Amino acid sequence: MSEEIVIKGKENGPLLVMKDGKVLFALCRCGLSKKKPYCDGSHKGSGFEAPEVELKVE
Ligand code: FES
Repeated sequence: MSEEIVIKGKENGPLLVMKDGKVLFALCRCGLSKKKPYCDGSHKGSGFEAPEVELKVE
């Protein structure tokens, strides 16, 4: 059985590392998190801007 790993960059938010459609963890890409490398929600209201992206790991 194959497992699908996807890294999804939320618009203006973190990188979600997902396996088979479930979020395993969220990585900060705004640089403001106090729990790096994980997102702690600090990007909200900070003005951080980033496009939505999706990468499939094969
Ligand atoms: S992306 Fe959420 S705190 Fe940085």
